[in-house]
Amino acid sequence: MNEIIYLDNAATTSLDPIVLDTMLPYMREHYGNPSSSYSIGRTSKAAIESSRKKVADLLGVKTTTIYFTSGGTESNNTAIATAVKTLGCTHIITSAIEHHAVLNTVEHYCADNIVTCSFVKLNEHGEVDYRDLEEQLQSKSNAGIKCLVSLMHANNEIGTLLDLKTAGEICNRYGAIFHSDCVQTIGHYPIQLKEYGVHFASASGHKFHGPKGTGILYVSEGTRITPLIHGGGQERRARAGTENVHGIVGFAKALELAVNNYLPDQIYISTLNSTMRDGLLKLCPEITFNNGEQSLYTVLSVNFPGNVGTDLLLAQLDRAGICASGGSACSSGNEYGSHVITALGIPQKGATLRFSFSKLTKISDIDFALETLAEILNYAKANQAL
Ligand SMILES: Cc1ncc(COP(=O)(O)O)c(C=O)c1O
Repeated sequence: MNEIIYLDNAATTSLDPIVLDTMLPYMREHYGNPSSSYSIGRTSKAAIESSRKKVADLLGVKTTTIYFTSGGTESNNTAIATAVKTLGCTHIITSAIEHHAVLNTVEHYCADNIVTCSFVKLNEHGEVDYRDLEEQLQSKSNAGIKCLVSLMHANNEIGTLLDLKTAGEICNRYGAIFHSDCVQTIGHYPIQLKEYGVHFASASGHKFHGPKGTGILYVSEGTRITPLIHGGGQERRARAGTENVHGIVGFAKALELAVNNYLPDQIYISTLNSTMRDGLLKLCPEITFNNGEQSLYTVLSVNFPGNVGTDLLLAQLDRAGICASGGSACSSGNEYGSHVITALGIPQKGATLRFSFSKLTKISDIDFALETLAEILNYAKANQAL
């Protein structure tokens, strides 16, 4: 079997061995239930609370604002449920390129006629039109309607970044609740949540070399949270169920490593990204990129010209051991296309692929991917598919 060349780090990342070593004692020796009052229970409880403090310190917020969850999806769901059920929001402003963990949740509350929703205008790179956001909020506020604004910090398919501070200021001006899905950015930037005026922010451990099934929801001070999962009194009655102690410990360790090594990692990963971009343009100058001007350094979204479709190109890369992911428009009747590419109206003839990198990606991985793509594109050209 070919060696795996993993260029899909926006989908998930491999677990850092240091993170695993930090987790293992909580799977072996310290297995007590954190709700138990004897010593091994207290050890587990202490591990959760010190992890909470670590995460809060790294994100520049108070310990009481951090809730541990099962990941980005649950955090997004909890934020939206809280805004709708407890905070009195009856209209949601979001964007057409949010992750489905937001889009489908909003749709769920709209379908039940609990809220109405609208999309903010975007340009062709998925950048938010802040004037449109402001106009929408102003008109809802004039009508006495309280809004939730849910906008992702970075788009997982095309990397485009939101200016969190600008969006937060606009939301606060009109008394709106502001949620940001920061799943692709927490662990990739030294984010100090307090600076942005967000009421809710979601993060997911497996996007920065932490364990899968772990996440946090940040809930700003003074904002009450509505539980999605009912049962015991864990997480200060906000999220029932015996805590994932080793996962929580792993999440905190992964975030610590990510934040402490942020600058060298960002420089290294940005170099990989630009090497891939330059190499692709050398292969085929007609290639275009979907990333916005301000874009996540881990993601490169590429449009290939010609007649080779996304699925075929991905399958050819897979055959060579290269893992990348697709992002192509929904053709009618095909529900598997990318809602992001469709929403942005990116002309679709050839393939749209996302390559995403991490600190573990090697420059030789990029070289190999470029050589393989050269062979595939040359073959396509020879067969008039390009
Ligand atoms: C932007 C974004 N939001 C939410 C999620 C869902 O996170 P999780 O896999 O932790 O549920 C993802 C994961 O792909 C994502 O990229």
